[in-house]
Amino acid sequence: MAGPALTVSRASEGDLGFIMATERRPGYEALVGHWEEARHRAALADGSHACFIGRSGGMPIGFVLLRFWNAPERVTLVRRVAVTTPGHGDGRRLLSAVVAHAFRETEVHRLQIGLFPDNLRARRAYEAVGFVAEGISRGSAFFGGVFRDELVMSLLRPEWKALNRG
Ligand SMILES: CC(C)(COP(=O)(O)OP(=O)(O)OC[C@H]1O[C@@H](n2cnc3c(N)ncnc32)[C@H](O)[C@@H]1OP(=O)(O)O)[C@@H](O)C(=O)NCCC(=O)NCCS
Repeated sequence: MAGPALTVSRASEGDLGFIMATERRPGYEALVGHWEEARHRAALADGSHACFIGRSGGMPIGFVLLRFWNAPERVTLVRRVAVTTPGHGDGRRLLSAVVAHAFRETEVHRLQIGLFPDNLRARRAYEAVGFVAEGISRGSAFFGGVFRDELVMSLLRPEWKALNRG
């Protein structure tokens, strides 16, 4: 039986506690970045970042932070994705909904994600949404004081349209 519907909305300052707790969940420190509150507040207000919260049954289940939202270059980065309960399909449902927001609300042509190549769970989830692995971007993430390689994945508008007949 299907669970409660997932709803997605833009984050507000009232969501910062949830966002900061989620990006700090045990085990996530090796997978995803985290910011202090002031940095999150700045991102909420800078007009370039867009943060979406997913809710199921009224409870927040994860967030997606985008950068270069609605940029004239029409390339948007998926900067951070995290859910409270991984491995149950929430991540792909949430990202899929946020991707639909991006393609419907802006003229973005390319959505791009960088992830650590050994994060196979994230890769599987992104592939399920339609992202395609392009290759390794060497030393592109300054993370925990070291430069790490990232796997670059992308989803182009025509591919998304074909997948969603939209
Ligand atoms: C990445 C993340 C958002 C994905 O969301 P999710 O809800 O866990 O993902 P889903 O359940 O939709 O899909 C996970 C897929 O990975 C698979 N998987 C789970 N653990 C895995 C593992 N250790 N190795 C390989 N695949 C794995 C699952 O079987 C599933 O694939 P399938 O349905 O095709 O079989 C979530 O795991 C998360 O928040 N992780 C911690 C933070 C993080 O890594 N963020 C991404 C940084 S780029």
